[in-house]
Amino acid sequence: MALILDGIQIRDQILQEAKPRVAALKRPPGLAVVLVGEDPASEIYVRNKIKACHDLGIYSEKYAPPTSVTTAELLALIDQLNQQDTIDSILVQMPLPAHIDFSAVLQAIHPSKDSDGFHPFNMGQLVANGPGPRACTPAGVMEVLRRHQIPIEGKRAVVVGRSEIVGKPMALMLLQANATVTLCHSRTRALADECQRADILVAAIGKPAFITREHIRKGAVVIDVGINRVSDPVQAAAIFRNDEKAMANLKVRGSLVVGDANPLDMAELSSAYTPVPGGVGPLTIAMLMMNTIYLSERRQA
Ligand code: GUN
Repeated sequence: MALILDGIQIRDQILQEAKPRVAALKRPPGLAVVLVGEDPASEIYVRNKIKACHDLGIYSEKYAPPTSVTTAELLALIDQLNQQDTIDSILVQMPLPAHIDFSAVLQAIHPSKDSDGFHPFNMGQLVANGPGPRACTPAGVMEVLRRHQIPIEGKRAVVVGRSEIVGKPMALMLLQANATVTLCHSRTRALADECQRADILVAAIGKPAFITREHIRKGAVVIDVGINRVSDPVQAAAIFRNDEKAMANLKVRGSLVVGDANPLDMAELSSAYTPVPGGVGPLTIAMLMMNTIYLSERRQA
């Protein structure tokens, strides 16, 4: 039986450990969240981020400019937040509408207030093993591995997906922990063969149940970073092999949340895995809180 790596339990542990650090500060840490437009998934993420701040005693501000906002207007908002003393951490929720120059936006956030560690300076710090805020989702994955004492050093880690938000920083963090890392992507040849070599397989592609039994070596640790919604009954039936409970849930809810790995194959073949939902997802928010506290400690030191 595979071990289920419970992200909710680890999130609660991390948030519990964060409380005395918040209490020790003269001024509460401050997070500004910028959500452009009306993407329903992003709205849920942002609501959960604000709630997590509230529960921890972190001050938060939310800005929700309309989809029609210009890059220049967004840069002006970030400039104002860069200068605002009560704000330690600025998060611009991705994805941004196509007309926004997202790279200009990320570079406008002062590196000392960069919630996500996406600024090129902080990405450079990651490459150079320097200090800095680290991208929240891969940092959360490292916490899962560390807190479950899953060995990384000398292991073969395969990351599928090379996004700036997850895949690239994930590969670098595993490398820093002395894994032998392979970073696969949409142009990788013989992907299943690459994945079959993995002791630790990280799926960060953004396609429901893309990783299947042909990719998973028996006994591998599988980390599923994906959060996808499946509403097509034919697709759901194929993924869950007509499982009665899953199909009943689909009828009631209209859609199912599915990761990037097939949940049945992952449970059957892996030695340990993160479920979706309830695996990596809750940790992203916990790590955002930790980054915000860290940035505030640095600014108040
Ligand atoms: N969208 C999906 N994941 C993330 C994240 O970690 N940070 C930001 N800013 N946007 C996201």
